[in-house]
Amino acid sequence: MELKSAVNACFGQSLTNGVSVCNSARTFFITGATDGIGRHTALKLASDGHRVLLHGRKPPDSDCVRDLLEEMRKRGAHSTSYFQADLLDLREVRQLAEAAQKETNKLDVLINNAGIWGPPEKASVQGYDATWAVNVLAPS
Ligand SMILES: NC(=O)c1ccc[n+]([C@@H]2O[C@H](COP(=O)([O-])OP(=O)(O)OC[C@H]3O[C@@H](n4cnc5c(N)ncnc54)[C@H](OP(=O)(O)O)[C@@H]3O)[C@@H](O)[C@H]2O)c1
Repeated sequence: MELKSAVNACFGQSLTNGVSVCNSARTFFITGATDGIGRHTALKLASDGHRVLLHGRKPPDSDCVRDLLEEMRKRGAHSTSYFQADLLDLREVRQLAEAAQKETNKLDVLINNAGIWGPPEKASVQGYDATWAVNVLAPS
């Protein structure tokens, strides 16, 4: 069986020229959606008709988050939820998971996008190396 057929059979997707196109709307949860790759991914998913739960560490009333939600609406997102959490604090990570679970009982895809690199500026709240805490402990 070709890979494309196998993937289509397993995931119920149609692959066209290497691009995966979901036949039906899925629910995505993406961390670090306020900037960079995460922001672009969230907007693209909204344009494609998917439901997207957004995470960031900026306050919901910040200009950055307001702009993001406005852009999501322009792309057709009708109900977009935003969750604030600093992934440097494992307590906030747990609260984030609980809040997302309250929001939906069906999550199709979790995109652990939030991340940092370079020399960490500080340790995490629980005393771990910051890069380890955000990139490894929080998503796992
Ligand atoms: N860009 C590249 O060339 C490249 C290459 C390899 C891997 N990556 C990885 O791809 C991912 C996205 O990269 P990017 O370039 O889009 O990065 P980015 O522009 O710096 O965005 C990272 C996102 O993660 C969030 N974030 C960082 N620390 C956080 C924390 N402690 N708690 C909650 N959110 C936090 C940021 O929030 P704030 O806006 O509040 O800071 C931002 O929304 C990262 O995991 C990165 O390591 C990127």
